[in-house]
Amino acid sequence: MKILLFGASGMVGCELAHALAHHSIVAPPHTQVDIADAVAVERVVEEEKPDFIINAAAIIDVGALERDPALGARINVQGAENIARAAVAHAIPQLLVSSSYVFGESLQPYSEDAVKNPQNVYGRTKAEAEDALVACVSSTSWHVARSSWLYSHYKNTFVDEVAQTLLQGKPFEASPQRGNSTHCGEFAAAIVKNFIDASSHSGVYHIVNEDGASRFEIAREVARTLGASEDLVVAKEFPSSAMRPSVVLLNTKLPKLAPWEESLRTYIVAQYMQK
Ligand SMILES: NC(=O)c1ccc[n+]([C@@H]2O[C@H](COP(=O)([O-])OP(=O)(O)OC[C@H]3O[C@@H](n4cnc5c(N)ncnc54)[C@H](OP(=O)(O)O)[C@@H]3O)[C@@H](O)[C@H]2O)c1
Repeated sequence: MKILLFGASGMVGCELAHALAHHSIVAPPHTQVDIADAVAVERVVEEEKPDFIINAAAIIDVGALERDPALGARINVQGAENIARAAVAHAIPQLLVSSSYVFGESLQPYSEDAVKNPQNVYGRTKAEAEDALVACVSSTSWHVARSSWLYSHYKNTFVDEVAQTLLQGKPFEASPQRGNSTHCGEFAAAIVKNFIDASSHSGVYHIVNEDGASRFEIAREVARTLGASEDLVVAKEFPSSAMRPSVVLLNTKLPKLAPWEESLRTYIVAQYMQK
């Protein structure tokens, strides 16, 4: 199949491109197609005539979007709507990558059909992007794939910061905020397996490593895996915690990914203990 992938230079985009290696990929860079430009998006869809479109392009900096909500409205919402409309106009199946932050602070995990209640600008833009897609799709196949706290060798993320700090023998302060620590390679492979190499009903899906955990628990798991002292991981509340609610996703629709500890250990060993 010919796949049109937006956001290919990002962490999720790189993992998707890797997982899609057996397909033909068209991945216009941001400099060639700004997704906020409806004409440019329509043009590339018209020219390329792909079999499937994936939108993995967005601004994900939570703090930057609090300071500049218009940026999120332009790229995360208008950009997603432009892609969704072009896909529908050409009757092409599409997938939007979305986030657990469409939900707000809760002790209970959220299933796919739970009512959205975002608590920060980033989450609001992702919720509005989903709504914009759903508002314009008709009979054309569509999917929203939500995930949370992704990590990958393509980018330095929280788990890498923990590992790098502990390997220097320094303490690491971690918050009690909860989420789904998820291996981005497994996330991307699940998208390809369930929506591109096979067909699934249109709708919203949660793709996460199993079970929620706090940043503190995740950091301690990294310490245990590295053989570092767990006492180096210190619990701490951060002032920005209100912008980063505890949200745990439940996958009730797709085959489950591995428990978060298992995938995290595999990643840490491969990245930091085999070199
Ligand atoms: N990271 C996570 O933990 C996480 C968790 C759940 C969901 N997600 C979702 O996954 C998706 C990708 O996130 P990521 O972590 O891969 O982010 P990322 O590494 O920051 O990548 C973002 C991508 O978006 C592209 N982009 C930004 N503005 C654009 C524009 N105006 N036009 C075209 N492309 C543009 C970037 O291209 P340039 O580099 O050229 O600017 C880059 O390829 C997002 O929808 C995000 O909400 C991420």
